[in-house]
Amino acid sequence: MKRSLVFLMTALMAVSVCAQKFDQLAKTPPMGWNSWNKFHCDVSEKLIMQTADAMVSSGMKDAGYEYIVIDDCWQISRDENGEIVADKERFPHGMKYVADYVHSKGLKFGIYSSAGTVTCQRRPGGFGHEYQDARTYARYGVDYLKYDWCGSTTQDARSSYTNMRNALYAAGRPIVFSICEWGQNKPWEWAGDVGHLWRTTGDISDNWNSMINIFEQQKDLARYAGPGRWNDPDMLEVGNGGMTTEEYRTHFSLWCMLASPLMAGNDLANMTPETKLILMNKEMIAINQDTLGIQATCYRDQGNYQIWVKGLANNEKAVCLLNKSDEKKSVLVDFTLLAQIRTMTRRFRPPSGTTGAGVPAGGFGVPGAPGAAGAQRAPGGQGAPGGAPATAGATAPGGPGPMGQRGFTPLTLTDYRIRDLWEHKDLVLKETSVYVDLPPHSVKVYRFVRK
Ligand code: GLA
Repeated sequence: MKRSLVFLMTALMAVSVCAQKFDQLAKTPPMGWNSWNKFHCDVSEKLIMQTADAMVSSGMKDAGYEYIVIDDCWQISRDENGEIVADKERFPHGMKYVADYVHSKGLKFGIYSSAGTVTCQRRPGGFGHEYQDARTYARYGVDYLKYDWCGSTTQDARSSYTNMRNALYAAGRPIVFSICEWGQNKPWEWAGDVGHLWRTTGDISDNWNSMINIFEQQKDLARYAGPGRWNDPDMLEVGNGGMTTEEYRTHFSLWCMLASPLMAGNDLANMTPETKLILMNKEMIAINQDTLGIQATCYRDQGNYQIWVKGLANNEKAVCLLNKSDEKKSVLVDFTLLAQIRTMTRRFRPPSGTTGAGVPAGGFGVPGAPGAAGAQRAPGGQGAPGGAPATAGATAPGGPGPMGQRGFTPLTLTDYRIRDLWEHKDLVLKETSVYVDLPPHSVKVYRFVRK
């Protein structure tokens, strides 16, 4: 009795000391497809296998999409041993069969459950079965787990998700852990060591207001993102029919700028040419998948007109002009200034002495960014990007903050060529300041490419 108690204590200590997340995963934002936005509970082995086929034949796989994730409703009950049971009508060959098929296409397989007693569609949740389920998922060949928050009542979010993280680690199969507690417990403050991505808001719907409202809520979260730890503003709605092509282009661009996971949520087997051009815009995807993993910050906020900037490797950057209004806008864009905006060039690194839950104060962001001095500039017409701040930022390396600002080399317009990522053309600038037309709900995205 005494010996077994000692053994149990030692085993428990070993788990808690060694437990961690699999930290070599999701070094760039995960890309894939999830069944929920389009198919809800109408999932089946046929759908998943056809989607895997379409992922390959459509070119999505070549564009970088990798995970095929079945969301809610694949599971139906637990058996007498507490084992999770798949819906036999919909998945007659079981989940391993589906996973094997997905793997045979060179893709990865994802599944869904909830940290509570039930899922959002009232299927059995994972509560109390974490280690058992993790072993089951490993046996199926799961590569990605989306873990929801329904049925959770009074549970503590951080402990619940940490428990599942430990269970996944103990099961031994590297699985991307996608935390889905809708931003209710500020997961960006604690989930960096727990999961690889965490939802920051409630569910997206297939309309402009929902999408842009979720986008707005990402504004202050850039500093928490980095390789292996992503803010997740929810899955894509591109191609589901509730927005115009222009709006979907904006949706996709913003998600790329935010270094968000790119989980397509449409019917891959039936995509229009417009949807394909958006989801497979490789130049936009390259922005999203940049190795530094920096989430864009808002450089200039004039309400309906905003400028967002994302630092990229090799001192490059992406600049997104966003017109949120229902009216067409013509904005004067000063490319000299845009070229000078200083961006973060370093990966996320927690301040020393913390477990990673902390945030490097002042480490991220675009110096001279929104408001402040930037708002003072006006000459030359409405909508012009900020003046003084960018230059001020560029001439002030060595600034404060644990991340430091050293190593920054100021660059100017002549160091770059500027690529329009939707026109797929380099800009030919006759003047360095030019008016750019932005239709309602549209973006322009430029990549400043080092010459
Ligand atoms: C929640 C999640 C969604 C989806 C549904 C499934 O609402 O936030 O993304 O997984 O549950 O029931």
